[in-house]
Amino acid sequence: MTTWITICDTCKREGWEDGDMALSDGERLAALIEARAAALSSPVRVKTRRTSCLMGCTHGCNLSIQAPGKLAYTLGRFTPDAEAADAIVAYAELHAQSASGQVPYRQWPQGVKGHFITRMQPIPEE
Ligand code: FES
Repeated sequence: MTTWITICDTCKREGWEDGDMALSDGERLAALIEARAAALSSPVRVKTRRTSCLMGCTHGCNLSIQAPGKLAYTLGRFTPDAEAADAIVAYAELHAQSASGQVPYRQWPQGVKGHFITRMQPIPEE
């Protein structure tokens, strides 16, 4: 089952306007995540998509991790750098491997610790 990483591409962290403003912080993080996810060789499926605003604007960069029938998470407070992207994609792989979407804490990549904002239960079948 595919785990989706949905990245907010309009997030701008504090001080963003002091840079060149060519891309939002969310666009920078999205590009890094997309490149890593596309290079995965594992059999689990991790896909990415972008959206504009996850309504967590005060604590960007934000993203969500979801798969049908599994626990879903929103994460934030990321800086748009390689270390964050590596950790996010590694976590998404573990989420994809998990039947419930719950990844044991001992397996969490260091770079996602302290970044979880919400956990949502899967929607009931009916
Ligand atoms: S702009 Fe990214 S959460 Fe609102």
